[in-house]
Amino acid sequence: TPDPRVRHISEALVRHLHAFVREIEPTQEEWSAAIGFLTRTGHLCTQTRQEFILLSDALGVSMLVDAINHRKPAGATETTVLGPFYVEGPREFADGADISGGMTGTPMLVRGMVAGTDGRPLRGAVLDVWHADEGGFYDVQHAPEARAGRGRLLTDAEGRFRFWSVRPSSYPIPHDGTVGAMLAAQGRHPYRPAHVHFIVTAAGFEPLVTHLFIAGDPYLDSDVVFGVKDSIIVDLVDHPPGTAPDGRVVPEAYVELS
Ligand code: DHB
Ligand code: FE
Repeated sequence: TPDPRVRHISEALVRHLHAFVREIEPTQEEWSAAIGFLTRTGHLCTQTRQEFILLSDALGVSMLVDAINHRKPAGATETTVLGPFYVEGPREFADGADISGGMTGTPMLVRGMVAGTDGRPLRGAVLDVWHADEGGFYDVQHAPEARAGRGRLLTDAEGRFRFWSVRPSSYPIPHDGTVGAMLAAQGRHPYRPAHVHFIVTAAGFEPLVTHLFIAGDPYLDSDVVFGVKDSIIVDLVDHPPGTAPDGRVVPEAYVELS
């Protein structure tokens, strides 16, 4: 006898799939095209690319699964997609360090505070951060071994963290495969609005996987993977050259995310 969970999943799958097929009444050619699409999607999955995850993302399924599994406890920051560009075992940086690793672009100071759901600041919380460069590419897209614009930091006694990097740009998800063809057929662009990724972990708390999005980005209302939530959009403030709030002397104009 099948496992009850497997039975439930199978019955629901068949029920919804049949309802879908009854609704659209595919021609024989459309059915073949669908099989071809899924076959090509599978062939695009390699060590460095997972086209099925892209498909799940671009159809809003990943955010739905995230919403089901991470119902926001009171006081918690909202979650969003992990995305494909996290790298395990990030390099560790001291508080206030520059994590840009030689990326070019407008200097960006990021400051924030990590607190528990009760509002109490958390000392020694672990922050993994990563972001795209000014061209919209992650380090690993330039070269698999490259490490820039990513790192790990710890919060201080007041739960605060700060780091320097460069301002990220909005960017397209990989769109030279079946997901790109689907987006084009749907009349959708492949862009994600500019953001910085965070995974925050602290003893006794659920890990938080989220981003901070930059206010004013033209793609905030049409993120191709539906990852935007209003509560995680933050202002990027322009500063002239001079002494930054952390005491660093910056010889060029810079931006601050906080
Ligand atoms: C991200 C990139 C993707 O290609 C995707 O499908 C989801 C998220 C990202 O980097 O945030
Ligand atoms: Fe990203």
